[in-house]
Amino acid sequence: MWPIFFTLIFHFCSLSAVISAVSFTRIQLPTNATGPEALAFELGTGTFYTGVADGRILRYQGATNRFVDFGFAAPNRSKSVCDGTSTSNPNPVCGRVLGLALHHRTRRLYVCDAFFGFGVLGPSGGRAAILSTAADGEPYRFCNAVHVHQQTGNVYFTDTSSVYGIRELETAISVKDSTGRLLKYDVRTEQVTVLFRNLSGAAGVSVDENERFALVSEFIANKTRKIRLRGRRPLESEIVNTQPTPDNIKSTRFDNFWLAAARVDPVTKSSLLPIGQRINGNGNVLQTVNLEPWYGNKSVSEVQEYASKLYIASRLVDFVGVLLK
Ligand SMILES: *[C@@H]1O[C@H](CO)[C@@H](O)[C@H](O)[C@H]1NC(C)=O
Ligand SMILES: *[C@@H]1O[C@H](CO)[C@@H](O)[C@H](O)[C@H]1NC(C)=O
Ligand SMILES: *[C@@H]1O[C@H](CO)[C@@H](O)[C@H](O)[C@H]1NC(C)=O
Ligand SMILES: *[C@@H]1O[C@H](CO)[C@@H](O)[C@H](O)[C@H]1NC(C)=O
Ligand SMILES: *[C@@H]1O[C@H](CO)[C@@H](O)[C@H](O)[C@H]1NC(C)=O
Repeated sequence: MWPIFFTLIFHFCSLSAVISAVSFTRIQLPTNATGPEALAFELGTGTFYTGVADGRILRYQGATNRFVDFGFAAPNRSKSVCDGTSTSNPNPVCGRVLGLALHHRTRRLYVCDAFFGFGVLGPSGGRAAILSTAADGEPYRFCNAVHVHQQTGNVYFTDTSSVYGIRELETAISVKDSTGRLLKYDVRTEQVTVLFRNLSGAAGVSVDENERFALVSEFIANKTRKIRLRGRRPLESEIVNTQPTPDNIKSTRFDNFWLAAARVDPVTKSSLLPIGQRINGNGNVLQTVNLEPWYGNKSVSEVQEYASKLYIASRLVDFVGVLLK
């Protein structure tokens, strides 16, 4: 019974990998806005939010209304100084919103700003209310990815490193920093707890539908880790995937997840080429989408499935990619 079942799944998956990636379109950001790092979708409307290099959170309202300014997290952000700036070295005055996740029932948009920590915006946007800047007495240095568990409203987020900020990423990589943390915001108590430490470049997080485990990417170590949240051995963990430079992880139907990562160029053997990888909760690869035709060797930070399309975010471009599967 089981071997046959698995064989069928295997055939189905290899087939779907072959027929993937049929057409690609770009949703252009407004003039001078660049570097969408993550995406958060509203339910059913196709409207989404993204954080860009100049610290703004933009809201995409479809092909006719396009993007509007929605919010930001930097407490002293000046529109005249910040809007349209696209330096590769983000400016702390402007902020840099990386992770975003929308809790559909309450319409709360949770965000991680690399400089200002973990916060939330209401449906009218504006300046984020910062909810937490430190846990266990240690400040966040590089708040990065956010996931909301829709049923409970609990929020999971990562601090990439407790030592190096977003402007010191190269150093963090060269010293193989492993001081990243996985954190949980309990929506009822409004308290943040540290779930896991010593992560090497904690870049992405996602939790399964029953809140049994978290998948966390370790960008620097080239590993994705599964951390149990409940059961007999809570907080026990194991490495379940070793695709290079894993970034955001976005849950999709049937407790599958899309991992934004890279593969080593088979020709040059040196440069990395961006891919999206659909994995199950055990890290097994179900589908791989090659993004090189549209991104070359630029890294992508997120692949998210919405309404049967893949939406792709990258810090290095000025559009959101849409792939029809
Ligand atoms: C875009 O940036 C250029 C160069 O900094 C500037 O001249 C132009 O006014 C900006 N456009 C908008 C719409 O902000
Ligand atoms: C924002 O500006 C106020 C007043 O100038 C200052 O006291 C505060 O330190 C600033 N905050 C940040 C995060 O720069
Ligand atoms: C894990 O992190 C803690 C503090 O964050 C540190 O004291 C400890 O040495 C680390 N353990 C390892 C094995 O690196
Ligand atoms: C991660 O993978 C990349 C690409 O294969 C490699 O260059 C890098 O050294 C790896 N990092 C670690 C810590 O193994
Ligand atoms: C990435 O591609 C560009 C041209 O598309 C090339 O100039 C550059 O050397 C490549 N980078 C790496 C690391 O291979």
